[in-house]
Amino acid sequence: MTTVQSTEGPVLRSDYQRSIAAYWNKENDPVNIRLGEIDGLYHHHYGIGDYDPSVLRAGDQAIIAEMHRLETAQANVLLDHLGDIQPADRLMDAGSGRGGTSFMANQRFGCQVDGVSIAEQQVTFANDQARQRKVDDRVRFHFRNMLDTGFGTGSMRGVWTNETTMYVDLHVLFREFARLLEYGGRYVCITGCYNDVTGGRSRAVSQIDQHYICNIHPRSEYFKALSDNGFVPITVVDLTPATIPYWELRARSSVATGIEDTFLTAYKEGSFHYLLIAADRT
Ligand SMILES: C[S@@+](CC[C@H](N)C(=O)[O-])C[C@H]1O[C@@H](n2cnc3c(N)ncnc32)[C@H](O)[C@@H]1O
Repeated sequence: MTTVQSTEGPVLRSDYQRSIAAYWNKENDPVNIRLGEIDGLYHHHYGIGDYDPSVLRAGDQAIIAEMHRLETAQANVLLDHLGDIQPADRLMDAGSGRGGTSFMANQRFGCQVDGVSIAEQQVTFANDQARQRKVDDRVRFHFRNMLDTGFGTGSMRGVWTNETTMYVDLHVLFREFARLLEYGGRYVCITGCYNDVTGGRSRAVSQIDQHYICNIHPRSEYFKALSDNGFVPITVVDLTPATIPYWELRARSSVATGIEDTFLTAYKEGSFHYLLIAADRT
């Protein structure tokens, strides 16, 4: 039987959060499911790196497998930036989806990983995966809000968000992460953000917001909210050039969802970045 834990108060605290949870609870898109079925790592994020052009001739299943390889490469780059993690350490995956990045972290570091999501269906799915993988004693998923997780103060060595920060207020989120992380603990974020230099939210960025019911933040907001909450960035990587091939491949795949050209426009016109930020808790 699946155990879904929750905090004392209500997990979903606004109509907006309820609409996000409803979206992810019913999400069953082939762009996520068919890729996950390849090796049981289910991702809800985008990919990075060049694709092998021979897949375009090899057919649809080869394209799907290649997209999955690029999405797994993205998660590996995120984990590369967590620093020196020991088996006795504890990590948190904030907005854990179906758990792909959490399983990769446990496999790599051998440590305990706790994932939180406001979508109960995802939590149930990911806990089932943990049992199938026989890591349910180390990797656990919880129906909790990443803005108020209920985990102990200073209990985490590392926290990451893989494409989840556009659903929340960054100041509230980083206040909670600052509480959770021990001194010197690392936070790693991969996100899309809009470019302050080109002005406000572009048409393409607004279309992405509307498509995913999210609220993409400007680049500056990340650094302000990190600094205000005692985080000091150690690495910032602009992944935009590395993610463009993924979107070009996805646009030619059978699992394209219709948002591909909008992402390509936003990235190529310079109004939108795909950014990795690693920061230490001081
Ligand atoms: C785009 S998916 C990313 C999933 C996962 N990080 C991955 O890379 O596969 C966004 C996730 O954020 C979660 N989420 C959104 N707002 C949240 C909140 N306030 N607390 C916890 N999870 C949240 C959603 O439930 C969903 O799992």
